[in-house]
Amino acid sequence: MRRTILTGDRPTGPLHLGHYAGSLATRVELQHSHATYVLIADLQALTDHADRPEEIRHNVMEVALDYLAVGIDPDIPAGFLVYPVSQAADITAFKAHVVPVGADQVPMIEQTSEIVRRFNRIYGSILVEPEALVPKISRLPGIDGRSKMSKSLGNAIFLSDLPDVVTDKVMRMYTDPRHARVEDPGEVEGNVVFTYLDAFDPDHAGLETLKQRYREGGVGDVTLKHHLIDVLHGLLAPIRARRQDLGRHPEQILRILKEGTERGRAVAQNTVSEARRAMHLDYHMLP
Ligand code: TRP
Repeated sequence: MRRTILTGDRPTGPLHLGHYAGSLATRVELQHSHATYVLIADLQALTDHADRPEEIRHNVMEVALDYLAVGIDPDIPAGFLVYPVSQAADITAFKAHVVPVGADQVPMIEQTSEIVRRFNRIYGSILVEPEALVPKISRLPGIDGRSKMSKSLGNAIFLSDLPDVVTDKVMRMYTDPRHARVEDPGEVEGNVVFTYLDAFDPDHAGLETLKQRYREGGVGDVTLKHHLIDVLHGLLAPIRARRQDLGRHPEQILRILKEGTERGRAVAQNTVSEARRAMHLDYHMLP
């Protein structure tokens, strides 16, 4: 039997490379080998954006466009849900085995596991204990190199950024300050440009050679950044093109969201019924 994935994002803005490194890429990779549920957590977004409901509504569309543009398939997996419940409920309702998320979400998944273990101990094995699936480079630093990539810190590269904007942001990236001249040996560890290359350069062997040459001296920061710009263009050009196409038909996106929500609701409703029965709280089933 195929294992189940459930994951999602709060719709607080369009998605960026940090989301891509943290979880989007994993979802696209695993979506056909797993029964996949992806949710846009609108109610959870209200917990810290309660004063801006219109913004959340608008960002549901932004996130949906990013999902489709990166290649999440709304047909073969169960579709996207705008499913307004909080995290442990999200995960358990779908009996997810695997939750692809960035490192910052691991405590949420652990808490969910604890809740599941306790529930199952008391009421019998009904719910599934989930496991977080965190990629190696899941906490992508922002272009300032300091903190995590985030929209609010203004250090993000968005999946929808135009090529010139991406180029400009990469050129502004922080590198090794002691690497002033091309001949100077450079520091690879902690160098944001290399962190991004580790996350996104598909040519692993080539990257190892580049690191070697950078350490020895002889590779300038501009050359290095041009390489990262090429890598990011390769990743983002098809995503950007799909997003532009999809954005011309918002009514189709809304239909995908609506159908996904309906399918998700049916799955969740099953689990809720099972859980209520196990808890002897299924009053509506009484004769
Ligand atoms: N908390 C996640 C975020 O901040 C969004 C989310 C809601 C989620 N429910 C989930 C992630 C269930 C994984 C599984 O982006």
